[in-house]
This record gives sequence, C-alpha cells and structure tokens, in this order.
Amino acid sequence: LWGQPHIFIIFGASGDLARKKIYPTIWWLFRDRLLPEDIHFFGFARSPLTVELIRERTLPYLKVWNRVIVEKPFGRDLASSDALSAHLSSLFREEQIYRIDHYLGKEMVQNLMVLRFGNRIFGPIWNRDNVACVVITFKEPFGTEGRGGYFDDFGIIRDVMQNHLLQMLCLVAMEKPASTNSDDVRDEKVKVLKCISPVALEDVVLGQYVGNPEGPPEAHKGYLDDPTVPSGSTTATFAAAILRVANERWDGVPFVLRCGKALNERKAELRLQFRDVAGELFGCRCARNELVVRVQPDEAVYTKLMTKKPGLSLSPEESELDLTYGSRYKDVKLPDAYERLILDVFCGNQMHFVRSDELREAWRIFTPLLHSIEERKERPIPYVFGSRGPPEADELLKRAGFIYEGTYRWVNPHKL
Ligand code: BG6
Repeated sequence: LWGQPHIFIIFGASGDLARKKIYPTIWWLFRDRLLPEDIHFFGFARSPLTVELIRERTLPYLKVWNRVIVEKPFGRDLASSDALSAHLSSLFREEQIYRIDHYLGKEMVQNLMVLRFGNRIFGPIWNRDNVACVVITFKEPFGTEGRGGYFDDFGIIRDVMQNHLLQMLCLVAMEKPASTNSDDVRDEKVKVLKCISPVALEDVVLGQYVGNPEGPPEAHKGYLDDPTVPSGSTTATFAAAILRVANERWDGVPFVLRCGKALNERKAELRLQFRDVAGELFGCRCARNELVVRVQPDEAVYTKLMTKKPGLSLSPEESELDLTYGSRYKDVKLPDAYERLILDVFCGNQMHFVRSDELREAWRIFTPLLHSIEERKERPIPYVFGSRGPPEADELLKRAGFIYEGTYRWVNPHKL
C-alpha cells in the first residue's frame, strides 16, 4: 500500500483549519519521513489561493526548530550591538538565538555554580563582610600573530574583557537562581550587570606589547611590527580595570578584571581574596586566605590558607587545600568548550549562552570607556613581550586593596 500513489485532497484549502492544523501536520509527517513517497496534494478553496500564499499563511503555525548560533563580535559598542540584536530579533525569537561566549563552555567556569551553590562552606563568607577583592585574570603568552586585522579594530577590552571576564564576574557575583532553568540563571546575571556602573577611565590601565630582542624568536616582534596591524595603532593588547557591583552583597568590593596578550604565561583564573584575620595571635599578620579557581591550563580549585608549620613550633605557615583535576580525576577527559556548547544547542539549553538583555548591559558598562579611549587615541603603556604586563597594572591592583604577599607559590601537585 505504501508504494502505491496517494492523492490527498483538501476541501477548504484557504480555511483556518487547513492553515493551523492540516498544513503543519503534513509538514511534520514529511519531516519525520512518514508520508508515502508518491503522494500528490490537491486543494479547493472558495477564495483565490496560490502555493506561495499557503506558505506565507501557514508559516507562523509550523513551529520548526530553527536555532541560530552567533559568534562575537556582537557589535562594537552599545548602539551597534543594539542594532544587531534588533536585526536578529526581527528574524528569530530570543529562544532561537544562541550567542556564544565560549568561556561559558569551560569546565571550571561551569563549576562556579556548583562550587558556590552546592556547598555550605562558601555561602556565608561570599560577601562584602569577608571578601576583600576579586581578581579575574586572562593571560596569553602569544601576540596577535597575523590576526591583527580583526584584533586592531576591537582591542583586548572588546575581545576578552567585555565578554569572557565579565561573564565570569557574573557567575561569581550573582545570587542563587530560583532554578537551573536557562532564564532563571540569566535573570540573575542581568541583575548583577545592572548594579555595575560604566567603567571609569581612571580605573583602567592599558598596555601594548613591544618586541623583546632577547626573547625567543616569536617574542622579537612587537604588536606594531605585525604586518596585519596598521602602523601607529593605539589599540590596547593589555587591559586591567576595576569594576564595582553596587548591591547589598558586594558594595565596596573591587572586582579587578585583567587580560593581555604576549604575557609571561597562559593562564585564566578567578581569585577571591578574603579580608585579614583580626589581631596577631601568632606574633605576625597572617597571610590572607584566597580561593582560586584555575580555569586553564591545569584546571584546579585551591584555597590558600594558614596552617601550623609542621614540627615543634606553633608558627603559622602558608599552604593550600588543593583540588587539582589532573590528580583527582586522572582518567577524565574534559570536553572542549565548543563541544559542550554545540551539544547544548542541539538540546535546546540556553543556560550557557548570552541573552540580548545581558549583552546590552555588558555593552552599557564598557561603551563610554571604549569611546573615550578611542577619542583620546593615547598610546597605551608599552610592555615587553613575555613580561607580566605594565607594572602600573600591579599598582592598580594594590589600589583596589589586593595584597600580594609574594611568598606563596601554587605548585601543580601533578608535576611534583
Ligand atoms: C577568543 C579571543 O574569544 O578567546 C581570542 O577572541 C583569545 O583573542 C581566545 O585568544 C582565548 O580562548 P581560549 O579558550 O584559548 O582561552
């Protein structure tokens, strides 16, 4: 029977029922390969009708699953991003738009929600009474390497800070969402962003790398020596900025975001530095506790704390509680960020994608700064390829109240 020709006749082809139910159903059957191969459709209607017209009228009822994945740049400031979002929303509904920020697909970035909301020990100290400062860092040991054409037009703030680092800030600062539904999580992020004022120029340090003739061959060329970079460019390849979240939980706690290319190492991490312990019971100031979430490489969560120096004395000494993934989860292969995110698109899970209002807030925070940097066209502070970046950034960190002891070094236990 299936191989025989079929004829499907619709009486009332221009009617409501046909438009809302019959045509969509035929389409679903076709999509699921359930229609006979040799089938012909005829329709009768009292009003004049064309196939084109049927398509047009049926489209709103078809409910097909279009999903569009969009990669940055999502505009270059608030106005251009708004225009892009308006264009996208004329074509797709919000639940069809998947704006990628691939840092949201990283294991340790996703872990932030579990660490914060799946443990009793962090909740009560996760606030302005206990946290002195939050530092979110992104470092890369290589320069633009022929990617200057794109990069020069955008700069490090748009490339990394306004998206990847700000997303991490949201996950650290947000309140517990009502559920893990995508919109509940994204609602909380938007609330955090709304409490952040536009970044002030005086709270920012900008740098641009110069070649290091004494370094390895790839370090010899500075940013301006890259043939894809326009000569005399004042685009920053390094930026550090202080942001403040003016709400009940975080008022007065500086969030320092810093990122740069051509630095001394590859590292992305998030660091909460806690306030001093009161008094000097042991005859000296104890080093501050820190909770570090190391996003990459060598994923780890560790807490810097004081412990009794092993042996006869009662002296405190800096040590750590360490959860290094390489040691704890030896045979686990962590999926790549894009692997997770593209799977999420198939599953229709938007939790790790950027919603339009979230993007808008992110641009609101950075647009005035970006515009004033572009108007001033001031040369960023030069720093040597392979260095820690401009020393002025360390000064900024100090100004934010971060205390660098210089006495503790995290050792990857896997490599001990
Ligand atoms: C991209 C930036 O979004 O992130 C690049 O455009 C940067 O400049 C990259 O190199 C870093 O991603 P990852 O996953 O290697 O840390």
